[in-house]
Amino acid sequence: MRAAVVQTSGEVRLVDVPEPTPGPGQVLVEVEAIGAGYVDVMVRRGEYPGSTGPGSVPGAEVAGRVQAVGPGAPGDLVGQRVLAILGVGGYAEQVVADAGRVLPVPRDADAAEAVALGVNALVAEHALRRAGTTAGERVLIRGAGGGIGVLTTQIAHARGAEVTAVTSSPARGKRLRELGAARIVDRTSGAAPDQTYDVVVDTVAGPDTGSYLELLRDNGRYVLCGAAAGAPTEDVLATLVRDFHKSPTLLAFSLNSVTPEELSRSWQEVTALWQQGLLSPVLHRSLTLSDAEQALELLERGAPFGKVVMLRR
Ligand SMILES: NC(=O)c1ccc[n+]([C@@H]2O[C@H](COP(=O)([O-])OP(=O)(O)OC[C@H]3O[C@@H](n4cnc5c(N)ncnc54)[C@H](OP(=O)(O)O)[C@@H]3O)[C@@H](O)[C@H]2O)c1
Repeated sequence: MRAAVVQTSGEVRLVDVPEPTPGPGQVLVEVEAIGAGYVDVMVRRGEYPGSTGPGSVPGAEVAGRVQAVGPGAPGDLVGQRVLAILGVGGYAEQVVADAGRVLPVPRDADAAEAVALGVNALVAEHALRRAGTTAGERVLIRGAGGGIGVLTTQIAHARGAEVTAVTSSPARGKRLRELGAARIVDRTSGAAPDQTYDVVVDTVAGPDTGSYLELLRDNGRYVLCGAAAGAPTEDVLATLVRDFHKSPTLLAFSLNSVTPEELSRSWQEVTALWQQGLLSPVLHRSLTLSDAEQALELLERGAPFGKVVMLRR
Protein backbone atom coordinates (compact mmCIF):
# COMPACT_ATOMS: atom_id res chain seq x y z
CA MET A 1 0.00 0.00 0.00
CA ARG A 2 1.05 3.63 -0.28
CA ALA A 3 1.67 6.11 2.54
CA ALA A 4 2.94 9.73 2.62
CA VAL A 5 6.21 9.54 4.55
CA VAL A 6 8.24 12.53 5.82
CA GLN A 7 11.63 12.62 4.05
CA THR A 8 14.90 13.97 5.48
CA SER A 9 14.32 17.09 3.36
CA GLY A 10 11.10 17.67 5.36
CA GLU A 11 8.87 17.00 2.34
CA VAL A 12 6.30 14.22 2.40
CA ARG A 13 6.44 11.70 -0.43
CA LEU A 14 4.02 8.94 -1.38
CA VAL A 15 5.94 5.63 -1.16
CA ASP A 16 5.14 1.91 -1.07
CA VAL A 17 5.14 0.49 2.46
CA PRO A 18 4.11 -2.92 3.87
CA GLU A 19 0.42 -3.41 4.59
CA PRO A 20 -0.25 -3.10 8.35
CA THR A 21 -1.62 -6.00 10.42
CA PRO A 22 -4.03 -5.31 13.29
CA GLY A 23 -2.55 -6.30 16.67
CA PRO A 24 -4.48 -7.17 19.84
CA GLY A 25 -7.48 -4.86 20.30
CA GLN A 26 -6.90 -3.19 16.92
CA VAL A 27 -8.81 -2.94 13.65
CA LEU A 28 -7.59 -2.60 10.06
CA VAL A 29 -9.27 0.24 8.15
CA GLU A 30 -9.35 0.64 4.35
CA VAL A 31 -9.06 4.42 4.09
CA GLU A 32 -11.55 6.50 2.06
CA ALA A 33 -10.82 10.03 3.38
CA ILE A 34 -8.12 11.61 5.54
CA GLY A 35 -8.50 14.72 7.71
CA ALA A 36 -5.46 17.02 7.56
CA GLY A 37 -4.87 19.32 10.54
CA TYR A 38 -2.20 21.52 12.08
CA VAL A 39 -1.09 18.61 14.23
CA ASP A 40 0.27 17.00 11.01
CA VAL A 41 2.60 19.98 10.58
CA MET A 42 3.93 19.28 14.06
CA VAL A 43 4.46 15.61 13.14
CA ARG A 44 6.38 16.66 10.03
CA ARG A 45 8.63 18.85 12.22
CA GLY A 46 9.13 16.10 14.80
CA GLU A 47 7.40 18.29 17.40
CA TYR A 48 4.47 15.95 18.11
CA PRO A 49 4.89 13.40 20.92
CA GLY A 50 6.09 10.10 19.43
CA SER A 51 6.92 11.53 15.99
CA THR A 52 10.44 11.69 14.66
CA GLY A 53 10.02 14.07 11.72
CA PRO A 54 11.74 12.08 8.90
CA GLY A 55 10.26 8.57 8.64
CA SER A 56 6.95 9.62 10.22
CA VAL A 57 3.57 9.36 8.53
CA PRO A 58 1.34 12.30 9.54
CA GLY A 59 -2.43 11.94 9.81
CA ALA A 60 -4.51 12.11 12.98
CA GLU A 61 -7.77 10.76 11.54
CA VAL A 62 -9.28 8.82 8.69
CA ALA A 63 -12.68 7.54 7.67
CA GLY A 64 -13.10 4.20 5.93
CA ARG A 65 -14.34 0.65 6.24
CA VAL A 66 -13.07 -1.91 8.75
CA GLN A 67 -11.53 -4.83 6.83
CA ALA A 68 -10.31 -7.04 9.68
CA VAL A 69 -9.87 -7.08 13.43
CA GLY A 70 -6.98 -8.23 15.61
CA PRO A 71 -7.23 -10.61 18.58
CA GLY A 72 -9.72 -9.37 21.19
CA ALA A 73 -11.25 -6.59 19.03
CA PRO A 74 -15.03 -6.85 18.43
CA GLY A 75 -15.65 -8.92 15.27
CA ASP A 76 -18.89 -7.06 14.49
CA LEU A 77 -16.80 -4.01 13.50
CA VAL A 78 -15.82 -5.77 10.25
CA GLY A 79 -17.59 -4.10 7.32
CA GLN A 80 -18.59 -0.99 9.33
CA ARG A 81 -17.73 2.50 8.17
CA VAL A 82 -15.86 4.31 10.91
CA LEU A 83 -14.01 7.45 11.85
CA ALA A 84 -10.65 6.32 13.28
CA ILE A 85 -8.78 8.61 15.69
CA LEU A 86 -5.07 7.89 15.31
CA GLY A 87 -2.68 10.65 16.37
CA VAL A 88 -0.26 9.77 13.56
CA GLY A 89 -0.16 7.45 10.53
CA GLY A 90 -3.33 8.45 8.69
CA TYR A 91 -1.77 9.65 5.40
CA ALA A 92 -2.02 6.09 4.05
CA GLU A 93 -4.28 3.73 2.11
CA GLN A 94 -4.70 1.43 5.11
CA VAL A 95 -4.28 2.05 8.84
CA VAL A 96 -4.56 0.14 12.07
CA ALA A 97 -6.45 1.81 14.91
CA ASP A 98 -7.38 0.87 18.48
CA ALA A 99 -10.93 -0.51 18.51
CA GLY A 100 -11.74 1.92 21.36
CA ARG A 101 -10.86 4.86 19.12
CA VAL A 102 -13.10 4.11 16.16
CA LEU A 103 -16.52 5.73 15.95
CA PRO A 104 -19.47 4.93 13.67
CA VAL A 105 -19.99 7.11 10.59
CA PRO A 106 -23.72 7.85 10.19
CA ARG A 107 -25.27 5.88 7.31
CA ASP A 108 -26.13 8.91 5.17
CA ALA A 109 -22.74 10.67 5.62
CA ASP A 110 -19.84 10.50 3.23
CA ALA A 111 -16.30 9.88 4.41
CA ALA A 112 -15.09 13.41 3.60
CA GLU A 113 -17.81 14.94 5.78
CA ALA A 114 -17.00 12.53 8.60
CA VAL A 115 -13.33 13.60 8.75
CA ALA A 116 -14.24 17.27 8.21
CA LEU A 117 -16.06 16.99 11.55
CA GLY A 118 -13.89 14.26 13.10
CA VAL A 119 -11.19 15.21 15.56
CA ASN A 120 -11.99 18.92 15.32
CA ALA A 121 -15.63 18.50 16.31
CA LEU A 122 -14.59 16.18 19.15
CA VAL A 123 -12.11 18.79 20.41
CA ALA A 124 -14.70 21.57 20.09
CA GLU A 125 -17.41 19.60 21.90
CA HIS A 126 -14.98 18.55 24.65
CA ALA A 127 -13.61 22.04 25.11
CA LEU A 128 -17.06 23.55 25.58
CA ARG A 129 -18.29 20.70 27.78
CA ARG A 130 -15.19 20.66 30.00
CA ALA A 131 -15.63 24.39 30.47
CA GLY A 132 -19.24 23.77 31.55
CA THR A 133 -20.49 26.26 28.94
CA THR A 134 -24.17 27.14 29.36
CA ALA A 135 -26.72 29.06 27.28
CA GLY A 136 -26.37 32.83 27.57
CA GLU A 137 -22.67 32.74 28.46
CA ARG A 138 -20.10 34.74 26.54
CA VAL A 139 -17.55 32.55 24.75
CA LEU A 140 -14.43 33.83 23.00
CA ILE A 141 -12.76 31.58 20.42
CA ARG A 142 -9.15 32.07 19.29
CA GLY A 143 -8.18 30.57 15.92
CA ALA A 144 -11.88 30.76 15.03
CA GLY A 145 -11.32 30.32 11.28
CA GLY A 146 -9.27 27.15 11.76
CA GLY A 147 -10.42 23.54 11.65
CA ILE A 148 -11.33 23.41 15.34
CA GLY A 149 -12.46 27.04 15.51
CA VAL A 150 -15.24 26.89 12.91
CA LEU A 151 -16.82 23.93 14.70
CA THR A 152 -16.41 25.44 18.18
CA THR A 153 -18.17 28.56 16.86
CA GLN A 154 -21.10 26.49 15.57
CA ILE A 155 -21.45 24.25 18.64
CA ALA A 156 -21.22 27.16 21.11
CA HIS A 157 -23.86 29.06 19.10
CA ALA A 158 -26.10 25.97 18.89
CA ARG A 159 -25.94 25.70 22.67
CA GLY A 160 -27.09 29.28 23.12
CA ALA A 161 -23.76 30.95 23.93
CA GLU A 162 -22.87 34.43 22.64
CA VAL A 163 -19.76 33.87 20.54
CA THR A 164 -16.91 36.28 19.86
CA ALA A 165 -14.62 34.94 17.12
CA VAL A 166 -11.00 36.09 16.88
CA THR A 167 -9.80 35.71 13.30
CA SER A 168 -7.50 37.22 10.69
CA SER A 169 -9.53 38.96 7.95
CA PRO A 170 -12.90 40.57 7.26
CA ALA A 171 -13.72 37.73 4.84
CA ARG A 172 -13.11 35.11 7.53
CA GLY A 173 -15.12 37.24 9.96
CA LYS A 174 -18.06 37.34 7.56
CA ARG A 175 -18.09 33.56 7.23
CA LEU A 176 -17.83 33.15 11.02
CA ARG A 177 -20.87 35.42 11.47
CA GLU A 178 -22.76 33.12 9.09
CA LEU A 179 -21.76 30.19 11.31
CA GLY A 180 -23.14 31.86 14.44
CA ALA A 181 -20.56 34.33 15.79
CA ALA A 182 -22.20 37.43 17.26
CA ARG A 183 -18.95 39.45 17.32
CA ILE A 184 -15.75 39.39 15.31
CA VAL A 185 -12.31 40.56 16.37
CA ASP A 186 -9.90 40.88 13.44
CA ARG A 187 -6.51 40.33 15.08
CA THR A 188 -4.69 41.65 12.02
CA SER A 189 -6.32 45.09 12.35
CA GLY A 190 -4.80 45.67 15.79
CA ALA A 191 -8.28 45.33 17.36
CA ALA A 192 -8.58 43.58 20.72
CA PRO A 193 -11.67 42.15 22.45
CA ASP A 194 -13.38 44.85 24.52
CA GLN A 195 -15.50 42.54 26.68
CA THR A 196 -14.93 39.97 29.39
CA TYR A 197 -15.83 36.29 28.92
CA ASP A 198 -17.19 33.30 30.80
CA VAL A 199 -15.25 30.91 28.56
CA VAL A 200 -12.21 31.27 26.29
CA VAL A 201 -11.44 28.40 23.91
CA ASP A 202 -7.86 28.80 22.71
CA THR A 203 -6.36 26.75 19.85
CA VAL A 204 -3.54 29.27 19.30
CA ALA A 205 -1.61 29.89 22.59
CA GLY A 206 1.70 31.70 21.80
CA PRO A 207 2.83 35.11 23.07
CA ASP A 208 -0.69 36.55 23.57
CA THR A 209 -2.00 33.81 25.85
CA GLY A 210 -1.67 35.91 29.03
CA SER A 211 -3.62 38.84 27.59
CA TYR A 212 -6.54 36.53 26.67
CA LEU A 213 -6.44 34.88 30.10
CA GLU A 214 -6.94 38.34 31.58
CA LEU A 215 -10.28 38.61 29.72
CA LEU A 216 -11.99 36.05 31.95
CA ARG A 217 -14.87 37.27 34.11
CA ASP A 218 -15.38 36.12 37.68
CA ASN A 219 -15.46 32.29 37.70
CA GLY A 220 -14.40 32.18 34.04
CA ARG A 221 -12.87 29.11 32.39
CA TYR A 222 -9.98 29.12 29.90
CA VAL A 223 -9.60 25.98 27.78
CA LEU A 224 -6.25 25.54 26.09
CA CYS A 225 -6.62 22.89 23.40
CA GLY A 226 -3.99 23.81 20.82
CA ALA A 227 -0.88 25.85 20.18
CA ALA A 228 -0.86 26.97 16.53
CA ALA A 229 1.37 29.91 17.57
CA GLY A 230 3.61 27.82 19.84
CA ALA A 231 3.96 27.78 23.62
CA PRO A 232 3.05 30.85 25.70
CA THR A 233 6.12 33.02 26.15
CA GLU A 234 5.08 34.51 29.48
CA ASP A 235 4.30 33.07 32.86
CA VAL A 236 0.56 32.38 32.60
CA LEU A 237 0.58 30.95 36.12
CA ALA A 238 1.62 34.40 37.35
CA THR A 239 -1.44 35.85 35.56
CA LEU A 240 -3.66 33.29 37.31
CA VAL A 241 -2.16 34.18 40.69
CA ARG A 242 -2.57 37.89 40.02
CA ASP A 243 -6.24 37.35 39.00
CA PHE A 244 -6.86 35.01 41.93
CA HIS A 245 -9.74 37.21 43.15
CA LYS A 246 -11.73 36.26 39.98
CA SER A 247 -11.41 32.49 40.70
CA PRO A 248 -10.25 31.70 37.15
CA THR A 249 -9.88 28.12 35.90
CA LEU A 250 -7.20 27.14 33.37
CA LEU A 251 -7.83 23.80 31.65
CA ALA A 252 -5.68 22.04 29.08
CA PHE A 253 -6.66 18.88 27.30
CA SER A 254 -5.78 16.58 24.43
CA LEU A 255 -8.01 14.00 22.78
CA ASN A 256 -5.09 11.57 23.23
CA SER A 257 -6.02 11.16 26.89
CA VAL A 258 -9.81 11.09 26.46
CA THR A 259 -11.32 7.70 27.34
CA PRO A 260 -13.18 5.60 24.72
CA GLU A 261 -16.42 6.20 26.66
CA GLU A 262 -15.93 9.99 26.58
CA LEU A 263 -15.03 9.87 22.86
CA SER A 264 -18.15 7.91 22.08
CA ARG A 265 -20.39 10.23 24.12
CA SER A 266 -18.88 13.27 22.46
CA TRP A 267 -19.31 11.79 18.96
CA GLN A 268 -22.98 11.09 19.73
CA GLU A 269 -23.42 14.77 20.65
CA VAL A 270 -21.65 15.87 17.47
CA THR A 271 -23.58 13.59 15.14
CA ALA A 272 -26.90 14.57 16.81
CA LEU A 273 -26.17 18.27 16.18
CA TRP A 274 -25.13 17.44 12.62
CA GLN A 275 -28.31 15.47 11.93
CA GLN A 276 -30.43 18.30 13.39
CA GLY A 277 -28.75 20.72 10.95
CA LEU A 278 -27.14 22.70 13.79
CA LEU A 279 -23.58 21.74 12.82
CA SER A 280 -22.12 21.42 9.36
CA PRO A 281 -18.67 20.35 8.21
CA VAL A 282 -16.70 23.25 6.69
CA LEU A 283 -14.38 21.98 3.96
CA HIS A 284 -11.62 24.34 2.93
CA ARG A 285 -10.46 22.09 0.16
CA SER A 286 -10.74 18.51 -0.96
CA LEU A 287 -7.43 17.07 -2.22
CA THR A 288 -6.13 13.54 -2.71
CA LEU A 289 -3.48 11.58 -0.81
CA SER A 290 -0.96 12.34 -3.56
CA ASP A 291 -1.42 16.08 -2.69
CA ALA A 292 -0.26 15.56 0.93
CA GLU A 293 2.60 18.07 0.55
CA GLN A 294 0.14 20.71 -0.67
CA ALA A 295 -2.16 20.04 2.30
CA LEU A 296 0.71 20.50 4.77
CA GLU A 297 1.85 23.66 3.05
CA LEU A 298 -1.66 25.16 3.30
CA LEU A 299 -1.83 24.30 6.99
CA GLU A 300 1.66 25.65 7.66
CA ARG A 301 0.56 29.03 6.23
CA GLY A 302 -2.63 29.06 8.35
CA ALA A 303 -4.53 29.50 5.06
CA PRO A 304 -7.45 27.07 5.43
CA PHE A 305 -10.87 28.21 6.58
CA GLY A 306 -12.19 25.02 8.10
CA LYS A 307 -10.83 21.61 7.21
CA VAL A 308 -8.51 20.27 4.54
CA VAL A 309 -9.62 16.78 3.50
CA MET A 310 -7.72 14.31 1.31
CA LEU A 311 -9.53 11.57 -0.52
CA ARG A 312 -7.63 8.35 -1.03
CA ARG A 313 -7.54 9.00 -4.80
N1 LIG B 1 -6.54 19.21 21.98
C1 LIG B 1 -6.50 18.30 21.03
O1 LIG B 1 -6.79 17.12 21.24
C2 LIG B 1 -6.12 18.71 19.63
C3 LIG B 1 -6.50 17.93 18.54
C4 LIG B 1 -6.17 18.38 17.25
C5 LIG B 1 -5.43 19.55 17.09
N2 LIG B 1 -5.03 20.26 18.19
C6 LIG B 1 -4.24 21.48 18.08
O2 LIG B 1 -5.11 22.60 17.92
C7 LIG B 1 -4.43 23.63 17.20
C8 LIG B 1 -5.32 24.11 16.05
O3 LIG B 1 -5.55 23.03 15.18
P1 LIG B 1 -6.41 23.25 13.83
O4 LIG B 1 -6.38 21.94 13.10
O5 LIG B 1 -7.67 23.94 14.15
O6 LIG B 1 -5.42 24.24 13.06
P2 LIG B 1 -5.71 25.21 11.83
O7 LIG B 1 -6.84 24.71 11.01
O8 LIG B 1 -4.39 25.48 11.21
O9 LIG B 1 -6.25 26.53 12.57
C9 LIG B 1 -5.48 27.29 13.45
C10 LIG B 1 -6.00 28.71 13.37
O10 LIG B 1 -5.33 29.47 14.38
C11 LIG B 1 -5.15 30.82 13.92
N3 LIG B 1 -3.71 31.10 13.98
C12 LIG B 1 -2.71 30.42 13.37
N4 LIG B 1 -1.52 30.99 13.67
C13 LIG B 1 -1.78 32.02 14.48
C14 LIG B 1 -0.97 33.00 15.13
N5 LIG B 1 0.38 33.01 14.99
N6 LIG B 1 -1.56 33.92 15.92
C15 LIG B 1 -2.90 33.92 16.08
N7 LIG B 1 -3.72 33.02 15.47
C16 LIG B 1 -3.17 32.10 14.69
C17 LIG B 1 -5.71 30.88 12.49
O11 LIG B 1 -7.09 31.24 12.60
P3 LIG B 1 -7.61 32.71 12.19
O12 LIG B 1 -6.96 33.06 10.90
O13 LIG B 1 -9.10 32.57 12.08
O14 LIG B 1 -7.20 33.63 13.32
C18 LIG B 1 -5.67 29.42 12.05
O15 LIG B 1 -6.62 29.15 11.06
C19 LIG B 1 -3.08 23.04 16.76
O16 LIG B 1 -2.09 23.47 17.66
C20 LIG B 1 -3.31 21.54 16.88
O17 LIG B 1 -2.11 20.86 17.14
C21 LIG B 1 -5.38 19.87 19.45
